[in-house]
Amino acid sequence: MSKNNFRIYATCHIGDAAENLLRDKGYALDVYPGPEAPAKSLIVEKAASGVDALITTLRDPIDAEVFEAGKGTLKVVSQIAVGFDNINRVDANRYRVPFTNTAEVLNDATAEFAFLMMGTLARRMWDSEKMVREQKWGAWHPFLPFLGDEISGKTIAVLGTGRIGLAMIKKCTGFDMNVLCYDPVYQNHRFAADMEQVMELRHKLGMVREKNWIKYVSLEQALAQADFVSLHVPLIREGGSPTYHLINERTLKLMRKEAYLINAARGPVIDENALAKALKERWIAGAALDVFEKEPLAADSPLLDPEIEDRCRLFHHFASGGRITRLSIDPEKGMAGRCIQGLRDVLEKNYSGDITRMPYVVNKEAWTGSGADGEGI
Ligand code: GLV
Repeated sequence: MSKNNFRIYATCHIGDAAENLLRDKGYALDVYPGPEAPAKSLIVEKAASGVDALITTLRDPIDAEVFEAGKGTLKVVSQIAVGFDNINRVDANRYRVPFTNTAEVLNDATAEFAFLMMGTLARRMWDSEKMVREQKWGAWHPFLPFLGDEISGKTIAVLGTGRIGLAMIKKCTGFDMNVLCYDPVYQNHRFAADMEQVMELRHKLGMVREKNWIKYVSLEQALAQADFVSLHVPLIREGGSPTYHLINERTLKLMRKEAYLINAARGPVIDENALAKALKERWIAGAALDVFEKEPLAADSPLLDPEIEDRCRLFHHFASGGRITRLSIDPEKGMAGRCIQGLRDVLEKNYSGDITRMPYVVNKEAWTGSGADGEGI
């Protein structure tokens, strides 16, 4: 195998299969060994050492300092994640460095996890298992020691109708749910019309007694009418449609007391102090969270308060964590595959070297200037 001269620094392992594939293609790959994030100074040092590409993930801050260090040699940043709020797009464009992400391949895994968190929370599966394990289960009883809430036939508000939000809606439709859609940037009315047809057909075939519905509404309407509110917006801290603390005291108060909140998007979309207060004072029925304002969750987080333990499910940013989704080297199936293909497209000058035609490049404007934000996840 003839060697290419490209050097890559990866801030985390991406799986043996993907790493071996790169090495077999002749890439010199240096991987940070720990599961934790490397210090920013190490990423800067590696960029300055002349690597051609960085493989990064959502906890690595990639900004002007990194691009300046890699000036003249760094050709691509390949992010193994769909979200890229850790990468400063304006800086990447200023240094004309394209970056790639791993959209699409994790839509179903992430939506599935959001859906299952919703079930775990509403049907109180964690309390049930804990009670059995702790030998506290006394007897079968019609309603003691507690009941849960059904999901089937209820109304969900999907905030953010990008790829993952749409995947979530498809799963909810199978559970006969009605859907309130809200998106601050992009409304996919075509998808809603198609889903309406699916709902109509299911009703016509006698699969559901009442025809389900789907519609776009305002944020306020979505929050006020839903039994479940599921977040699927990207994190946007500033600009036209920021999503930072979209869920705060004001918006939590708009939700129904019986409603549940689900977050498999980004932690800072929720003001966690406000949420802890809302759970404690029972403004809403419960929350299931896979992402946090600061990860890992700090020991003194108000979300860990034992007083709200029965209505607050917490997970370790695990929604896309299915084996195939994370590790497959097939770019149509796995994040690892998409990550290395995005990197190879740029370095090997696929698509005649035209980054605007490379499917996994996010900042297609990198070589022409301008910027964009607010794309759905
Ligand atoms: C996970 O959160 C991702 O952005 O891929």
